Amino acid sequence: MNVGIDKLNFFVPPQYIDMVDLAHARDVDPNKFTIGIGQDQMAVSKMTQDIITFAMHAAQPLLTAEDLAAIDMVIVGTETGIDESKASAVILHRLLGVQPFARSFEIKEACYGATAGIQFAKNHIQANPESKVLVVASDIARYGLASGGEPTQGAGAVALLITADPRILTLEDDNVMLTQDIYDFWRPVGHQYPMVDGHLSNEVYINSFKQVWQENCRRNKRTAADYAAICFHIPYTKMGKKALLAGFESDEPAQQDRLLARYEESITYSRRVGNLYTGSLYLGLISLIENATILNENDRIGLFSYGSGAVAEFFSGRLVKGYQQQLNKQGHEALLDARQKLSIEEYEQLFDEKIDVDVNKTFNDDLLYSIQEIRDTIRYYKESNE
Ligand code: COA
Repeated sequence: MNVGIDKLNFFVPPQYIDMVDLAHARDVDPNKFTIGIGQDQMAVSKMTQDIITFAMHAAQPLLTAEDLAAIDMVIVGTETGIDESKASAVILHRLLGVQPFARSFEIKEACYGATAGIQFAKNHIQANPESKVLVVASDIARYGLASGGEPTQGAGAVALLITADPRILTLEDDNVMLTQDIYDFWRPVGHQYPMVDGHLSNEVYINSFKQVWQENCRRNKRTAADYAAICFHIPYTKMGKKALLAGFESDEPAQQDRLLARYEESITYSRRVGNLYTGSLYLGLISLIENATILNENDRIGLFSYGSGAVAEFFSGRLVKGYQQQLNKQGHEALLDARQKLSIEEYEQLFDEKIDVDVNKTFNDDLLYSIQEIRDTIRYYKESNE
């Protein structure tokens, strides 16, 4: 039975900053951010916009009444949880109107969480072909103002509907997983921002890719020629490129050039958004299939997922005939174009504003599904434009 991605969508907050403005404000050569890091713009969230807000905006437009009746599992991958106990997936389940006899939970392992969710969903559908599983990756990537990681921040969500006989990508049974207990990036309970050894995280990311790729070639008897494209986790767009160049240095230059050309197509959206943490790989997948110049049905796409700490996974899927009809390139470009550009002063002011759940308060944000009220430590979301 074929199982995979039937529908997918992303959402990013309606504010961003320009990386050249940020470079000037931090007294850095703009080329470091636009070429060295590979980012043009960075999504910025307001305190009234959280992982539920982004998850709702990404998932709600995808789902029909029939989907809501068939979904029996809602999984959120995130490292920006809003509660130490209750899963954001439970709130999402209610706000979306999914039928009640469902399993809803959250998965955490840095930027890897959604990948674990997709594999769990795939196993579930294989055993229950009539059901559908909603997997949402939703995060706010923050390292702090003027910190080393500041140019690699971002925010947003990707929603994926996993079903039997999918219309976009059929997942293959070829996963290679890798776990290493390494402190390259972590956020102890109670800490607002992560601890990060950025250069170590780059190194572990590249070495992890090399290991899972080589094991994939050995186990699944594949070479670069078997892949039409490879999508990478994209904390910043230069990162995947570095891993690609390191991983394929012994391959034919023509193979490397072909995969690099597809990689460039996979980072079109990320260049304008920054890091989505667990959603970044899947934003790359959407960017690739919406912007690729030469992709065909049945083409194999490799996916490299990496979550610091560290867990990596390499797996693949094949494009389904007619997948182009399920995409929304125009809508996604319009979403990015319609955002408000913030000055660095406005961004810094927003950055310092925080929700205090111990203070009852109402809020006013034009964005649908934003936080409307805090009452008795509970977040209440605006649910319609009325
Ligand atoms: N013009 C062009 N490129 C420039 C430049 C300039 N004026 N100045 C610097 N660069 C290049 C550097 O050569 C480097 O490229 P390379 O890595 O290909 O050699 C790149 O810009 C980054 O410079 P670097 O000095 O390494 O930046 P940094 O010390 O500020 O750290 C990160 C960059 C990504 C490590 C940091 O932002 C970070 O810690 N981010 C969070 C962690 C993360 O995203 N990890 C990724 C794996 S999950």
